[in-house]
Amino acid sequence: VTLKGIRAFVLAAGRGVRMYSDRVKVLHEAADHPLLGHVVETIECAGIRNITVVVGSQAREVRSFLNGKVDTVLQTETLGTAHAVLAAKQKFRSWFGDLLVVPGDAPCLKAETLRAMIRNHLKQPCAASVLTAEIQKPSGYGRIIRQDGDVLAIREELDASPSERKIKEINSGIYLFCAQALLKTLSHVQKNKRKQEYYLTDVIQHFRETGERVLAYRISDATEILGVNTRLDLARVHEVITNQELERHSKNGVTIVNPKQTVIAKGVTIGRDTTIHPFTWIGRGVTIGRKCEIGPYAKIHSGSSIGEGATIGSFVEVVRSKIGKSSRVKHLTYLGDTEVGKGVNVGAGTITANYDGKAKQKTVIEDQVFLGCDTILVAPVRVKKKAKTGAGTVVLANHSVPRGRTVVGVPAKLINKKKHRTK
Ligand code: UD1
Ligand code: CA
Repeated sequence: VTLKGIRAFVLAAGRGVRMYSDRVKVLHEAADHPLLGHVVETIECAGIRNITVVVGSQAREVRSFLNGKVDTVLQTETLGTAHAVLAAKQKFRSWFGDLLVVPGDAPCLKAETLRAMIRNHLKQPCAASVLTAEIQKPSGYGRIIRQDGDVLAIREELDASPSERKIKEINSGIYLFCAQALLKTLSHVQKNKRKQEYYLTDVIQHFRETGERVLAYRISDATEILGVNTRLDLARVHEVITNQELERHSKNGVTIVNPKQTVIAKGVTIGRDTTIHPFTWIGRGVTIGRKCEIGPYAKIHSGSSIGEGATIGSFVEVVRSKIGKSSRVKHLTYLGDTEVGKGVNVGAGTITANYDGKAKQKTVIEDQVFLGCDTILVAPVRVKKKAKTGAGTVVLANHSVPRGRTVVGVPAKLINKKKHRTK
């Protein structure tokens, strides 16, 4: 379902000083994807089409990652989260619906949680909802100060009193606002004296002072709202996303023998009764069919698909390639820009030489082909149906192996058909 009454802002202008990096924080990767990419995808997946990313630090790099697919506005100086929302004022000045605000550094958030929070927000009259959770070590996060169940204020760590610091319920930085109420209130936010920034969290207290309600939408799984401030956090969110995905694959009937020793990008499709053995790396957007055996020590890059019942064994690298049903690529092989048909046997040590120094070239290996050990196919090459190569064969570029025939040697030569038969 598309949520027409909600517009979303992703705050991604901050530098991320605590990353000690030349790269802006939101472009650091977890689970094979930039943090910002995770956040935008989650919002899209929740059904929100109108998304604006507030960019600032390394705006050009961030925009180039978004590749024109998502709207951006520029925050010229990073003067805090309230300032960031104000930078996008033109996007909600005359908007009478609700605004979702999400920080660009919270990649573990699930779309279903966003949807539930939105439902709860729309059910009752309020100026804002804040997504919260209780955590054991709340330091670094804003604390939720409650009164009669509702939110009275959000206090940043630096400004909190000793007793407020003991509060374990924290602000995720994810909010829903009635757009017009927010617009009115934002202009009242003063610069925080300690940090010299305009805090978005300050609008909450303003709402309360003008008699508006602020809801807390508290979730039980705090890992979902983990923010990334340091490299250590990056490793933590990687683990959280990995566990979320593990749960999803497990419900789809997939065995991942040792998840801690396996990297599978978020969103990969894996069919029922497939087993992923340890030390395997699977990139974004890969599709793997049912009843496959993958790894140990396999690397399958983005843009690849593996058909039902296929085997991708040890030290096999698959790049932008399609492997057909029941084909076996069991040992020490590189397949790049290759289309492999059904029931193919790819011998140990086979290489498709797909790069000629200038461009990537394609290889086609048709159904039921048998490639002997150490075959090298210098792309572009086509090996036709039921053809065979002997061990150590090198098929030169722009050649094809005829249907049902066998080639051997360097460079590959056809074996005499008759002689071969009479043997
Ligand atoms: C913020 C919240 C805190 C909450 C925490 C959750 C405030 C004042 N505090 O703190 O209550 O617990 O998030 O992770 O909001 N950004 C901009 N422009 C700016 C400043 C920041 O776009 O001028 C972006 C950053 O790129 C980042 C997000 O806003 O993606 C949050 O900023 P960050 O500095 O990480 O806020 P926290 O100190 O973590
Ligand atoms: Ca943060």
